[in-house]
Amino acid sequence: MALPVKSAGSVMSASLRLVAVRNSSSKPKVAVLGASGGIGQPLGLLLKQDPLIAHLSLYDVVNTPGVAADLSHIDSNAKVSAHTGPAELAAAVEGADVIVIPAGVPRKPGMTRDDLFNTNAGIVRDLCQTIAKVAPKALVAIITNPVNSTVPIAVEVFKKAGSYDKRRIFGVTTLDVVRSQAFVSDLKGTDASKTVVPVVGGHAGITIIPLLSQTSPKVSFTQPEIEKLTPRIQDAGTEVVNAKAGAGSATLSMALAGARFANSLLRALKGEKVVQCAYVESEAVKGVNFFSTPLELGPNGVEKILGVGKVTPFEQKLIDASVPELNKNIAKGVKFVSG
Ligand SMILES: NC(=O)c1ccc[n+]([C@@H]2O[C@H](COP(=O)([O-])OP(=O)(O)OC[C@H]3O[C@@H](n4cnc5c(N)ncnc54)[C@H](O)[C@@H]3O)[C@@H](O)[C@H]2O)c1
Repeated sequence: MALPVKSAGSVMSASLRLVAVRNSSSKPKVAVLGASGGIGQPLGLLLKQDPLIAHLSLYDVVNTPGVAADLSHIDSNAKVSAHTGPAELAAAVEGADVIVIPAGVPRKPGMTRDDLFNTNAGIVRDLCQTIAKVAPKALVAIITNPVNSTVPIAVEVFKKAGSYDKRRIFGVTTLDVVRSQAFVSDLKGTDASKTVVPVVGGHAGITIIPLLSQTSPKVSFTQPEIEKLTPRIQDAGTEVVNAKAGAGSATLSMALAGARFANSLLRALKGEKVVQCAYVESEAVKGVNFFSTPLELGPNGVEKILGVGKVTPFEQKLIDASVPELNKNIAKGVKFVSG
C-alpha cells in the first residue's frame, strides 16, 4: 500500500496515522532530522533503498513534504512520512529505532567546525530534548558539527531528562573512515571496497586520527607517506568546503557515510555483531570522556568499546595531542547545557 505523503500536522490520512505509531525493531523506523538539507536529501535517498527500513520518517523545519513526496515514488518497501516544524517533531521521532541528525548549518571557506557551535548547539539541544522524552530508547546518530561538542550536548540533555543510556548516543565519524579508505586504496592500488582503516579520536582537525598501521588487508606505508596522508585525512572536510567555494561542505560522501552507519545500527538491532568507529562516551583513552574507537554494536547500541588497539609511536603522539583539544570541545558542549 503506497502511503500518501503529507505533512503530519496537516490533514493526515488514516494510513499515515497508522505508521506514525511505534514500529518494533523487526519493522524498523528510522527518522532523519534535517531531512531537506544538503546531507538530508541524499541520505534519505540512500535510506529509502535500505531493505532493513520499514518506515522512513523525514523531519525538517522547511521543505519536508516535497522531499518526502519525491522519495515516496521510489519502488522500495520503506514507507515515507513527512513532518515539518517543531510541532511535528514528536510524531517524527515517536517509535523510532534509529534517529539520524544532520540538522544545522554547514561550514563556508575559512570556517572551522567550532565556528558552527553558536547555531548548531541550540538545534541539537532542542531536538534531543524531544527525543529524550518521546524516543528515549532510540539509537541516536549525530552528524551535526561540531560533533566533538554536539555529542556531549546531547548526552547532557538526556541526563537532564533522566533517560541517558551511554550505549545509545553516537557522533558519526564514518566519513573520516570512508575518506581514509578511499585515499589509502588510491595510493596503494587496493580494492577500495575491501580496504579497512580505523579512525579514532574526534571529528575535527587534529582530533581526527587515522590508524594507518591497522589498515587491513595489511599494507605498508613509508614515514613520508604517513606524514602526507594523515593531515590530508584530517583536512579532507576543508578540501571539500574550499572546492565548493561557499556552497556548503561534504554532502554526498557524508550521506553515504550516514547511511552506512545507520545500516550498521539496524543490523546490530537485529542481533548481528557489527564493528564501526563512532564518537561516544568512552574510557578508551585516559584523561578524556568521549573518544571515537572501533565499537562492537549490538541490539542496545554499544556492546563493547574495542579501544585504539596497538598503535605506533607516531599514532600515540597524535592521540596524546588530541586529548586537550577534545576536552576543550567537550567542556564547551557541557557548559552550553549545564550553564
Ligand atoms: N559528521 C560529519 O562528518 C559531517 C560531515 C559533513 C557535514 N556535517 C554537518 O552536517 C550538518 C548539515 O550539513 P548540510 O550540508 O546538510 O547543511 P544544509 O544547510 O544543507 O542542511 C541543513 C538542514 O537542516 C535543517 N535545519 C535547520 N535547523 C533545523 C532544526 N531546528 N530542526 C530540523 N532541521 C533543521 C535546514 O532546514 C536544512 O534543511 C552541518 O552541521 C555540517 O557541518 C557533518
